[in-house]
Amino acid sequence: MQSAPVTKYRPFPPVPLTNRQWPSRTLTHAPIWCSVDLRDGNQALAQPMSVEEKLEFFALLVKIGFKEIEVGFPSASQIEFDFCRRLIEENRIPSDVSIQILCQCREELITRSLEALKGAKNVIFHLYNSTSPKQREYVFGASKADIVGIAVKGVSLLKKHGQALIDAGTRLRLEYSPESFTSTELEFALEICEAVTDVWQPTADNKIILNLPATVEYATPNVHADQIEWMCTHLTRRDKTIVSLHTHNDRGTGVAATELAMLAGADRVEGTLFGNGERTGNLDLVVVALNLYTHGIDPKLDFGDINAIREVYERCTRMEIHPRHPYAGELVFTAFSGSHQDAIKKSMPHQKPDRPWDVIYIPIDPADIGRSYKAIIRINSQSGKGGVAYVLENDFGYQLPKLMHKEIGKVVNDLADSKGAELSPQDIHDVFVREYIDRATPVTLKEFRTIERSSTVTCQADLLAYGQEKIVTGTGNGPIDAFVQALRAAGLPAFELVSYSEHSLGSGAEARAVSYIQIKTERGASFFGAGIDTNIELASIKAVVSALNRALSKA
Ligand code: KIV
Ligand code: ZN
Repeated sequence: MQSAPVTKYRPFPPVPLTNRQWPSRTLTHAPIWCSVDLRDGNQALAQPMSVEEKLEFFALLVKIGFKEIEVGFPSASQIEFDFCRRLIEENRIPSDVSIQILCQCREELITRSLEALKGAKNVIFHLYNSTSPKQREYVFGASKADIVGIAVKGVSLLKKHGQALIDAGTRLRLEYSPESFTSTELEFALEICEAVTDVWQPTADNKIILNLPATVEYATPNVHADQIEWMCTHLTRRDKTIVSLHTHNDRGTGVAATELAMLAGADRVEGTLFGNGERTGNLDLVVVALNLYTHGIDPKLDFGDINAIREVYERCTRMEIHPRHPYAGELVFTAFSGSHQDAIKKSMPHQKPDRPWDVIYIPIDPADIGRSYKAIIRINSQSGKGGVAYVLENDFGYQLPKLMHKEIGKVVNDLADSKGAELSPQDIHDVFVREYIDRATPVTLKEFRTIERSSTVTCQADLLAYGQEKIVTGTGNGPIDAFVQALRAAGLPAFELVSYSEHSLGSGAEARAVSYIQIKTERGASFFGAGIDTNIELASIKAVVSALNRALSKA
């Protein structure tokens, strides 16, 4: 029972949209992306990035493919100003990339920002003011008309002072954000956006960017989509407007809100890598882009080496990515559950290069983002037999017979249980070698040779059985059968051979053979053994000894 009074909260009012279109649309193309890592993301860091770190981060964003990058708030601090200057003066901005700066609608801040932008080729000047009733009442004590006045004045001042920049060859575009848009009355948000557009006079070639932020996320994603669809259908100059999204993640639905609002008609998306930003963060651009990718839509951003991107991100921001973070988290291509491991192992062989990606439990090919299958399965005590066999095959080349999976799975799980920890692939390999390959007690094979081969085979084996040297012979219809007879002659318990398989391990001069033998004891218990040797015959003889030793140790 909740002890605090839930009655102090109210439901978020729905949007009265009678003919909403977004629910029946599907996404077909990538939006225009804008990274705000170096502004919104950076200003939310306990220790903001240094200029050198920002330069490195900027280069990373360019490499990923961002064509619009908010580089800061140059009128707010010297560091932000200097960073902007270095980007321009050191020619670090590719000709197809626009830098975006944020500025309040105040004359001295606008002129200072324009100074920072001198010499830039492509600029998005981002003006904003708060528009919601709470901001108007509690923070500014301002009427709706005052708030519209602030925005209109800001845009007029930019038009006036920005002309020199345009004359000097800069392509200057305007982005206007009614901050706290999603908490603002839609009619008023429209009114202020229209007023700003009236002043700026956009054209089809130089569209205005109207950025409609969910400064704080209060509603469910469908309400956000309704708000965006409402704006898209009410703006009078929609053809001269780029509708931009800027979600935050207070309810944990920033990605969903953005995706639904893209369906609702938005053209552009602002956000940050891995969702860094104030409070619960900004929109996670990596997730939205890779979500598009997994639906067959080219996101036009390159996350082909996500580990390298993550490394720069973590170093520069000093933030850590959660192990379960979609796509980038350390554990997201790992299956601990046995049934998941089995399904992955069974679906992998169906994955042919010309077929759509269809591996169960793994919605993206890890290789597409520079991650590897090797990390897919990790073993703990809850893991299934398929996982162990997968690791032994993929990491070490052992193709265990199917019937052996259960047996080795139990051996490995028992060890994981007793250790109380996850086992690495190397641990699993070590268990396999210890349990099967190096199994030399109570019977040790010292030497084996065939002494006659005709329609039958006769062999001689030197054994150490329970500490006693024995030289025994046996005859059978092949070397393995002959060896089984020799063991019986040595007084060891009888057993029958149930199955046999072998394959080569490695290739070329280094190649060895590995054999797997299954035996059944007189009591009906089944045991596998495995042996390795450069000589295939000897590999099988060793596998018999391995199976027998395992049986004797359980007797
Ligand atoms: O979240 C927000 O509203 C902002 C604006 C400045 C766009 O970051
Ligand atoms: Zn923001």
